[in-house]
Amino acid sequence: MKSDPEGIVRVGLIGFGTVGRAFARVLAREGADLGLRRGVSLSLAAVGTRGAAGKHDPGLGAGVRWTEDLASVVSDPDVDVVVELLGGIEPANGLIRAALGAGKSVVTANKMLLARHGTALQDLASEKGAGLGIEAAVAGGIPILRALRSSFTGDRVTAVSGILNGTCNFILTEMEATGRAYAEVLKDAQRLGYAEADPASDVGGDDAAYKLALLARLAFGRDVSVDQIAREGITRLLPCDFVYAKRLGRTPRQLAVARVAPSGHLLLSVRTHFVSETSLLAKVTGPFNAVEVRGESGGPFVFSGRGAGGDPTATAVLADVVEIARGGAPGARNAPPLGFARLEPCTPATSDEFVSPFYLRFIVSDRPGILADLARILAENGINIDAVFQAPYEDKSALPFVVTLEPVSGRALAAAFVAINSLGFHVVPPLALPMTE
Ligand SMILES: NC(=O)c1ccc[n+]([C@@H]2O[C@H](COP(=O)([O-])OP(=O)(O)OC[C@H]3O[C@@H](n4cnc5c(N)ncnc54)[C@H](OP(=O)(O)O)[C@@H]3O)[C@@H](O)[C@H]2O)c1
Repeated sequence: MKSDPEGIVRVGLIGFGTVGRAFARVLAREGADLGLRRGVSLSLAAVGTRGAAGKHDPGLGAGVRWTEDLASVVSDPDVDVVVELLGGIEPANGLIRAALGAGKSVVTANKMLLARHGTALQDLASEKGAGLGIEAAVAGGIPILRALRSSFTGDRVTAVSGILNGTCNFILTEMEATGRAYAEVLKDAQRLGYAEADPASDVGGDDAAYKLALLARLAFGRDVSVDQIAREGITRLLPCDFVYAKRLGRTPRQLAVARVAPSGHLLLSVRTHFVSETSLLAKVTGPFNAVEVRGESGGPFVFSGRGAGGDPTATAVLADVVEIARGGAPGARNAPPLGFARLEPCTPATSDEFVSPFYLRFIVSDRPGILADLARILAENGINIDAVFQAPYEDKSALPFVVTLEPVSGRALAAAFVAINSLGFHVVPPLALPMTE
């Protein structure tokens, strides 16, 4: 690791938004103490961001160079480590490649970029002998990537799953607590800073899929691509689903799941599950995250905490910078950032292998024979009904009711849904959610 003549490792920060600003502040606050406690000296040399003049923060020190020219931060001879906190694919990818190409270590929280181009960046870092710190890209402050990279190397991981999107978890737990509709709760989440102005990536499942792709690479050593992860958003849940969930002793959670199927292929999905009220995941509320890792020999381990937000994410970024400054950089030959120097190709398992009890919710224009039609189609596809529930509702033109199913494969259910969807009584398209212990 290059440093100045006094042994101070100089950081160039690109991106000064929620996480960038928090990182600069925590570095300014902890920098001197880190020297005493951790034996590393760090200083902020340059900040590159749009509108640099307006964002200039004198509290970060007089020696910091502020610029709009991001490339100049990367090529600055006074910068030893580049911290990328811009987000998005470009210009972040080009700038990180330029830094690694010059042998400079990089720390990034950019899950989207790492999910799409992480393998190529890992290869470049390894070729150039540079560090690549990625801890903050998954579950903010929770040190899950470091754990998968080092603590689980003695076991064979069979499943990694969890609540990876704080926006969805906040919305679902608020809908449950207040009985309000999705659109209203989303507005609150945006007002409180838990949801972006454009929430599509969070509520549609893409954000959790980026993180799951990274977790699955570290857990299984397979080159999981985001496009292989089936995903379904939370936007179709209605207040009545929470009423029925309670009646079933369950609560809805958006879960990202990567699990080894009996064929040895990976089941990969991001979708809402009805989890048991007594499960650990049910206790994870509001914007918190949790990740569960199951190993062949070790039992299940659960990591939970603040999965987003400036300060928790900044601490994960700083931990990577400290590791790099100490010379134990992720990216070194013995500790590749994605856990495995060479990832095997990934073949996703088919929906035949996803077998679960299911919750089906219908909203129909009431008429005789509806249940008989549904029961016939389910029976024709070899699917057993477990129970039927109907809470008392006045409005017969939009009547909700629920059918729960005994364990059924995703493929059989999808086949039944083709026929079910063509029935004429639906007011809202039916919803199917797996019920998970
Ligand atoms: N926020 C979280 O809780 C969290 C948690 C984990 C990981 N992350 C990841 O951390 C990264 C940063 O997230 P964030 O929430 O801090 O984002 P943000 O608040 O939008 O900040 C991004 C910063 O980069 C600047 N920027 C973006 N594109 C630029 C460009 N082309 N040229 C110059 N400056 C540019 C922005 O300037 P403007 O302000 O002018 O747009 C802003 O200062 C992302 O990869 C995100 O996925 C965030």
